[in-house]
Amino acid sequence: MTATIMDGKATAEKIRAGIKAEVTNLKVKPGLAAVLAGKNPASQVYVEIKRKTCDDVGIYSELYKLPEETTEKELLQLIDKLNKSEKIHGILVQLPLPKHINEEKVLEAIALEKDVDGFSLVNVGRLASGREAAVPCTPKGVIRLLEEYSIDLAGKNAVVIGRSNIVGKPTALLLLNRNATVTICHSKTADLPHYTKKADILIAAVGKPKLVTADMVKEGAVVIDVGINRIDGKLIGDVDFEPVRKKAAYITPVPGGVGPMTVAMLIENTLERYKKITGAK
Ligand code: GUN
Repeated sequence: MTATIMDGKATAEKIRAGIKAEVTNLKVKPGLAAVLAGKNPASQVYVEIKRKTCDDVGIYSELYKLPEETTEKELLQLIDKLNKSEKIHGILVQLPLPKHINEEKVLEAIALEKDVDGFSLVNVGRLASGREAAVPCTPKGVIRLLEEYSIDLAGKNAVVIGRSNIVGKPTALLLLNRNATVTICHSKTADLPHYTKKADILIAAVGKPKLVTADMVKEGAVVIDVGINRIDGKLIGDVDFEPVRKKAAYITPVPGGVGPMTVAMLIENTLERYKKITGAK
């Protein structure tokens, strides 16, 4: 078997085009504020991509690049200002934050109706209780890509490797809400292949290059690679792509798989927040 490659780039492009058409007709534009504190090189790249995508689709954006030494108080003051800004409908604080800043405190300071990432405790709770509201962008992008390729989730064995609050846990909850039988594996899991070999849908979100090898994958599985690892200037996923491709039915590439979907979901979430706040249809 040679897997069909799930084209996240093309799917994201289609979603972006739809949003652009919708935004063109709006008199007041949706606005997104992105806040980056510190010098994390990957985060620098991600926020620039997010800003550029906003420009491309006609969403107003503000990007705040704060120094590593920014205090929690200063960050909270900025969020307070953005919460009050009429131009801004979605607020994104790029993670990770510098170690001296309390992440939960900052995320909780974002006005609930502007929580474009869905990281607030209320939105996490809504997701966990099956009442999805603002849903984190990467997990939402994974589900949207599965839908694009008409992949049934009900009753399937879904295995998520990784338990982060940004990807692993919310992805597992979204799959569960769609009636998959879900297993979450992580760094303390004993005998990872035991679980992955049973997966109809295997999602790797750990940040370990080529962690998932062909012998760990069931014939005909759907393999979603959320990993973005930079090795010698090249982007490599968590999945050993070529050998796994020969065994799977569907597989996402890195780059061009989940990454572009994350950004597309961010602008979709911004438009959703805008509609919720302004009452626009
Ligand atoms: N860091 C890595 N992924 C994300 C994301 O989706 N949103 C935010 N805010 N930070 C991140």
